[in-house]
Amino acid sequence: METRVHEIADGVYRLSTFVPAVTPDGFTFNQFLIAADEPMLFHTGQRMLFPAVSAAVARIMPIERLRWIGFGHVEADECGAMNAWLAAAPNAQVAFGRLGCDVSLNDLADRPPRPLADGEVLDLGGKRMRWLDTPHVPHGWEAGCVFEETAGTLFAGDLLTHGGDPEPLTSADVLDAAIAMESASGAMTLAPATGPTLRRLADLEPRTLALMHGSAFAGDGSVPLRGLAKFCEDRA
Ligand SMILES: [Fe+2]
Ligand SMILES: [Fe+2]
Repeated sequence: METRVHEIADGVYRLSTFVPAVTPDGFTFNQFLIAADEPMLFHTGQRMLFPAVSAAVARIMPIERLRWIGFGHVEADECGAMNAWLAAAPNAQVAFGRLGCDVSLNDLADRPPRPLADGEVLDLGGKRMRWLDTPHVPHGWEAGCVFEETAGTLFAGDLLTHGGDPEPLTSADVLDAAIAMESASGAMTLAPATGPTLRRLADLEPRTLALMHGSAFAGDGSVPLRGLAKFCEDRA
C-alpha cells in the first residue's frame, strides 16, 4: 500500500492511502500532518496503515518531531495506530475531547492524553487548533471536530465521506457523492442535535474542509455542511 502526500492548505499535508477492497469503488483513508512549531498528526490510520503512513510522514519531517496526535472519534481508522505513533514519537501526546479521554483514552492510550474542553484552542505555534464537541456527529458520544483558526481549515473527519479515489483537493461539489455514500452506509447518527451541530460547524465558514474519506474541499465549506444538515434533518 502506498500513501500519497499533497499539501492541501498552507502547511497542511494530506496523507492518502487508497484501499480498493473497501466499498465497490474503493475508499481513501486520509490523515493530515499539520506543520507548526509543535506538529500534529490528525488521524493515525489503522495499525495496518502505520508502515505506509509513517513512511509518508518521514518524507516531510522526522517522525520524532511529532508533538501532537489528534482525531475526531474513537474508531480504528481514526486512532487505531495511536500507540504505534506514541512509541515512534517519544514527545508526542494525544490531544482529544475531555469526555473521550475520560471514557476511553485514559485507558487505551499508552501515555496520558491531553484533554480539551469544548472550544479550547491548542496553540501549535503557527497553527491554532480549536476543539469542538460534536457528540454523536457523525457518530460516537465522544465525537468532535477541530478548526484551525489561522487559515480556516475544518478537520471534519467522516463528515461528507465519499468513496473512490478522487483528486486530493477539489472545489467541485462533494455533497452529492457524500449523500450517495451516506444513503448506502447509514454511518451517521440521525438525532435531534445532528442538524444544529452541523450548522454550528457551517457557521465557522471554513475555507478548506479536510475530509477523512475522499477529496479535501476548497471553497465555502459552509455550503456542503448546510446541505448535509438538511439531508440529515429530512432523513431523520
Ligand atoms: Fe468514523
Ligand atoms: Fe473515518
